[in-house]
Amino acid sequence: MLILGIESSCDETGVALVEARDAGLPVLRAQALHTQVAMHEAYGGVVPELASRDHIRRVLPLAEAVLRDAGAKLRELDVIAYTRGPGLAGALLVGAGVACALGAALGKPVLGVHHLEGHLLSPFLSADPPHFPFIALLVSGGHTQLMQVEGVGRYTLLGETIDDAAGEAFDKSAKLMGLGYPGGPALSRLAEQGDPQAFKLPRPLLHSGDLDFSFAGLKTAVLTQAKKLGGELEGRKADLAASTQAAIVEVLVKKSLAALERSGLQSIVIAGGVGANKALRAELNSACAKRGARVHYPELDFCTDNGAMIAMAAAMRLQAKAKAATTIYAFDVKPRWPLAELT
Ligand code: KG4
Ligand code: ZN
Repeated sequence: MLILGIESSCDETGVALVEARDAGLPVLRAQALHTQVAMHEAYGGVVPELASRDHIRRVLPLAEAVLRDAGAKLRELDVIAYTRGPGLAGALLVGAGVACALGAALGKPVLGVHHLEGHLLSPFLSADPPHFPFIALLVSGGHTQLMQVEGVGRYTLLGETIDDAAGEAFDKSAKLMGLGYPGGPALSRLAEQGDPQAFKLPRPLLHSGDLDFSFAGLKTAVLTQAKKLGGELEGRKADLAASTQAAIVEVLVKKSLAALERSGLQSIVIAGGVGANKALRAELNSACAKRGARVHYPELDFCTDNGAMIAMAAAMRLQAKAKAATTIYAFDVKPRWPLAELT
């Protein structure tokens, strides 16, 4: 079965082709991605209307490139999957509209996928896929959640951020340090040259006893520190970046280990854009190694938004018979859509 996946929830247009067989994990045949980062950079963040228009321009050429790379024909597609939410309404509508139009034209069923389920299942695209059950730390630009994952579609929320997401903490701190957009990768690159202990920054909710997170206060502490430094900020930026990253990473690692401890599980999956962070990977690897637990990551390219994770999530849902594709082409999108609503 050949599944075409389309991702258009935010500032990346992603298309991929995955092949699902009766047994074994689905296999990625080809994928293509266009990132809008350069376009939004001038505005310091994503401009939703520009994002939607760019998705319209990119999605069909990307789909053609994927089919060409895979040596597949349009009529050979069995299912067209798309990101139904959460995300920017206009951007989601582009992927949903194209998927349903393709489905209707080809007479093939369509399947709306939850964006976070895509992230959650993205490590199954890697050379070292996890096994159910596992703990998942979902750390993207909009979400920070710890989930217990029993199988496809069987997700229990253990804890989440009560305000900003970890990615937002990276992005907002980077912005106020003048590092541009998206700030996460820029801040973490600069942090490599800094001292993570140079500034004492708060570790919000570290000892709260639950698995929730809070990052809004951290951003304020970074702002206060930056103001205090005044003219000296320029020379101390790498230290401030390293200290900010260390605070975010410490909280994420401690809570992830607490989730493993509570669940009695031995494996954890890290998914979402912040999962590309090298310091987070290094700290988690060493903390989990000490505990005899395994960490699974998506390949670096599949940490941030992409079409492969959407095609993969659709393929795994269909394999698990957890959801059926439909030939009813009336579509909606869900800009807000809690993962816990998926069953
Ligand atoms: O998963 P994603 O591509 O989009 C959402 O679904 O939100 O995640 C984007 C987030 C942004 O906040 C970005 O700054 C962050 O992931 N990010 C990073 C790194 N790469 C991406 N944060 C820290 N270190 C990185 N290397
Ligand atoms: Zn995402």
